[in-house]
Amino acid sequence: MAVIQENDCNLSTPLVTFRRMKLAVFVSGRGTNLLNIINKINDGFLRSEIALVISNHDCEAIESSMRAGIQSVIVDPKDFPGEVEFGNSLLRTLNEARVDLIVLAGYLKKIPDAVVSKFKNKILNIHPALLPSFGGKGMYGMKVHQAVIDYGCKVSGATVHLVDAEYDRGPVVLQRCVPVDSGDTPEDLAAKIHQLEYQLLPEAIELFENNKVKVEGRKVQILRS
Ligand code: GRF
Repeated sequence: MAVIQENDCNLSTPLVTFRRMKLAVFVSGRGTNLLNIINKINDGFLRSEIALVISNHDCEAIESSMRAGIQSVIVDPKDFPGEVEFGNSLLRTLNEARVDLIVLAGYLKKIPDAVVSKFKNKILNIHPALLPSFGGKGMYGMKVHQAVIDYGCKVSGATVHLVDAEYDRGPVVLQRCVPVDSGDTPEDLAAKIHQLEYQLLPEAIELFENNKVKVEGRKVQILRS
């Protein structure tokens, strides 16, 4: 998403400048994907900036973001009477930080409907399996990998998708697979899939930075130049 800012001045031709896309990264756990995004910004692969990290509770990820000097906020749904108030609080925080794209990187709470509709097709989630299999409410962490192994799947992988009103249901942006080897433990599979995620999530963000994503219903077309 190239963000164009027109300067408010009295020139006959408006001065048009580009500003960096502002990300809000939502986290609930270790935050290794968050650290990877920070690295990808620092090494120049991504042009975005992380305007904000949001978590529902204190966790390793929020500690890392604070150490990195990024504005970090805990917004706990338990502190609000209901989803509407929780959503309004998130929206206020996101608007204040002028966020363009939300990235869910291991965030375990449901995104309130008001945020989903305000940020339609502008919320990415990374899921550690090949959706639509092994997703949905309660499918997170080792439960996903255990279920893949128990089913006897020969491949698993990672999915980056847009977020809609249901857990893990929105249109798929990118997907990539890894083999499930005999004898793999859930931890082995998680480690392999994390390595994939470190490629896939920055790649998806880069597509948005460069306006290469076209969404038509469930189909996400990647515009390659
Ligand atoms: C990742 O496996 C991601 O797919 C899932 O949560 C995990 C987050 O890992 N949504 P980390 O906190 O980034 O290490």
